[in-house]
Amino acid sequence: MTTGFTTGLQAADVTPGTVITVVVQGVPLCVGQTLDGQWGAIDDVCTHDEGDLGEGELDGSAVECPRHGGRFDLFSGRVIALPPVIGVRAYSVHLDGDAVMVEL
Ligand code: FES
Repeated sequence: MTTGFTTGLQAADVTPGTVITVVVQGVPLCVGQTLDGQWGAIDDVCTHDEGDLGEGELDGSAVECPRHGGRFDLFSGRVIALPPVIGVRAYSVHLDGDAVMVEL
């Protein structure tokens, strides 16, 4: 059974060890795949000063904001490194065949 919303991404669109920005149902998300193949998604907008997290780097499961280097966990959305102090929402991601799906 298919659940969740399609991101419009295919698995091959996201290189392992990277994140990407995609808008799903009007919600901008930062979707990524770790080097060991685990998928996650968090809100795309950094809580510090609205950096675009999907434009950042993925280091393990840490998404680094491209603006000031704050870090968020790709799976929980919690802050790993300042300057942000407020976490972001996290969403479950799964594959339906090659389609990347997210639970909003
Ligand atoms: S906007 Fe993200 S760390 Fe400042």
